[in-house]
Amino acid sequence: MPSITVQPSGKTFEAEVGTSLLAALLAAGEPIEHKCDGKAECGSCHLFVQEGRKSLSRAQRPEHERLDSMIGIGSKSRLACQALLGTEDVTVELLSFASGL
Ligand code: FES
Repeated sequence: MPSITVQPSGKTFEAEVGTSLLAALLAAGEPIEHKCDGKAECGSCHLFVQEGRKSLSRAQRPEHERLDSMIGIGSKSRLACQALLGTEDVTVELLSFASGL
């Protein structure tokens, strides 16, 4: 099972392969927005994946289109609801500036 490390809290927990980052973070009690409930429509679950990006599922068109319409996006950006865990550990950085979208 891959482990997820959350910045800035530094908390680490494990989750099943194939679980979305959003579901895993919510199950662990992390405060992450998810206004559209995982439909790639709101962008509020945007986070940065600092390590382990290649292990996650590839971003599909709805995620690319949503990210392209947002500000503060970088090469490490993912929508937590769209990124599914692979077998490797990941480190994610929760962001507060995207929560108002
Ligand atoms: S929860 Fe809305 S885009 Fe992820």
